[in-house]
Amino acid sequence: MNQLNHHSKFNQAHTNKISSIEIIRNRTSRRSYKPEILSDKIQDQIDEILKTIPAGPFGTDSSFRLIHKSMATDRKIKLGTYGFISGAQYFIVGKTVSDIEAFIDFGYRMEWIILQLTGLGLGTCWLGGTFTRSEFARLVNLQENEVISAITPVGHATEKRSIRDRLIRLGAGSKNRKPWSEMFFNGDFDHPSDNKQIGDYSTVLEMVRLAPSASNKQPWRVVQSDNACHFYLQRTAGYSRMFPAIDLQRVDIGIAMCHFELSARELQLSGYWQIADPGLALPQGTEYILSWISK
Ligand SMILES: Cc1cc2nc3c(=O)[nH]c(=O)nc-3n(C[C@H](O)[C@H](O)[C@H](O)COP(=O)(O)O)c2cc1C
Repeated sequence: MNQLNHHSKFNQAHTNKISSIEIIRNRTSRRSYKPEILSDKIQDQIDEILKTIPAGPFGTDSSFRLIHKSMATDRKIKLGTYGFISGAQYFIVGKTVSDIEAFIDFGYRMEWIILQLTGLGLGTCWLGGTFTRSEFARLVNLQENEVISAITPVGHATEKRSIRDRLIRLGAGSKNRKPWSEMFFNGDFDHPSDNKQIGDYSTVLEMVRLAPSASNKQPWRVVQSDNACHFYLQRTAGYSRMFPAIDLQRVDIGIAMCHFELSARELQLSGYWQIADPGLALPQGTEYILSWISK
């Protein structure tokens, strides 16, 4: 079977950088920004990040662009976020074709960008729902077969969170994550694991646990076997009806895979992504996605 992704760019982009594990532990969504211009240096660093995005596990295409609010020359285009984000002058807008594998790769690649930006000390917030898609679409020349899966504001976050940000976080339960026993399993879905049983991969899975997800639903599940970690999507009932054009829970899986791979590589646990469905009995609403094979 083929190995699914190509790591040359990935490794190149990761030498001599701050620890991804530290960045993952420190990242949170930020919704209020100082409305200031980013320095040329920071804009160059962002350009560099956008040029070195590694391929996702399935190797599908997606593209990302930094835009400034002033690029909307048509006064009617407000680049709105339904009041969820305040002060932001810059956004990164990502587009891809609407396809099962593309959504996963999109999540993986955009989270990679978000972690790099976090490493530069910049604030970000995944937005999959609360932005005016049609306005952003006009700025990035969206083609008929493409979708804007998500965007993020980027900039210097205010020191204190706004009251609105705090309320949104409270509403989504953003501080919380599911316990290990709900997400991670040993051998099959009948045997939940705890982080003491897992050994080498315990930090890696903890980094998966901390990943951001749409409405903080954390739909990823991982079953560990002798030489593999099998990734599954356990859908939240009714969730896909909210934004039918974009499969946000597949995007979430890509985010979890990004955290997994960055942390594994940092800990020198080598491996690769492969379709290797072990054919386990699955809980309702659960589907197999992809496996990490340890080398
Ligand atoms: C795919 C995706 C879509 C999201 N969409 C929105 C959104 O539309 N509006 C919003 O305020 N937050 C959005 N979020 C942010 C989540 O609510 C947030 O990541 C989660 O509550 C965990 O909080 P944290 O990022 O601070 O750890 C989204 C996150 C992801 C991963």
